[in-house]
Amino acid sequence: MNTLELIKQVYQQIDHLPILSNNHPKTVVRFDSVVVKLWKRQDWKGGVRRFLGLSPAVNEWKLMNRFLDLAIPTPKPYDYCYLPTQFRPYTEAIVMEDLGDLVHCVDYLKSLVRSGDQNQVEQFEQQLIEITKKMVQNQIFDSDHGLVNFVVTEKKELYRIDLEITRQVTIPYLHHRLFAKMIGTLLSSYTFAIQPDTFRTTQFAQKLKKQLNPPKSVLRMAKSHVLQSMKTQYERSHIDTKVDLPF
Ligand SMILES: Nc1ncnc2c1ncn2[C@@H]1O[C@H](COP(=O)(O)OP(=O)(O)O)[C@@H](O)[C@H]1O
Ligand SMILES: [Mg+2]
Repeated sequence: MNTLELIKQVYQQIDHLPILSNNHPKTVVRFDSVVVKLWKRQDWKGGVRRFLGLSPAVNEWKLMNRFLDLAIPTPKPYDYCYLPTQFRPYTEAIVMEDLGDLVHCVDYLKSLVRSGDQNQVEQFEQQLIEITKKMVQNQIFDSDHGLVNFVVTEKKELYRIDLEITRQVTIPYLHHRLFAKMIGTLLSSYTFAIQPDTFRTTQFAQKLKKQLNPPKSVLRMAKSHVLQSMKTQYERSHIDTKVDLPF
């Protein structure tokens, strides 16, 4: 079955298929042995971005293929489709490997910490660092690099998903702010998962610093990103989390 044929079936049966996520303007649905991520971007801005080949869907498709080449774990990308008008409100789709039932990493890390198995926590942290290191070494940065976009499969394999705003840059020196946001997002989301045991963030940040060896200015900006996230959390929910970062 060609991709458009497959998406036509998804379109016709969508009310009866398992919806994995519905986070406007995106819907992620399971169909046969694949997962289809659909976008609804009918506004003129969406049209212009698609015309220029700069839509988030095209970006995700390109980066998934790049991750595949670099052996960074993400679902295998099968096809990208710009959808003709008969598929409205959907405008674009990516067909990808179905990773099966997933555990989101905020919950996964919480459960590891609760189980008290320190080895497992450290193994998991090391996997997070490996994925982050591989991305950075290949000049790939992402301000959405939080635990929400990491998942664990039933076989306990860690994957990075959702590459809509992931960027491959040519001159990393020009993107220190983005690099800092990537590290800051990872550390903040890590802290939200393990709080109140913030000594873990200190240790994790130490390992991250040692293995990634980012420029000092990046670490400085990453730190202020984390402190700002904690401040926002306090303003919203009165949870006061103090994080001690080794930079
Ligand atoms: N390839 C996949 N296999 C299984 N589940 C997936 C797959 N891709 C996405 N999902 C599920 O759909 C959710 C949303 O996917 P994601 O790409 O993060 O979309 P969004 O951009 O809406 O956040 C994921 O958190 C996961 O639960
Ligand atoms: Mg996501």
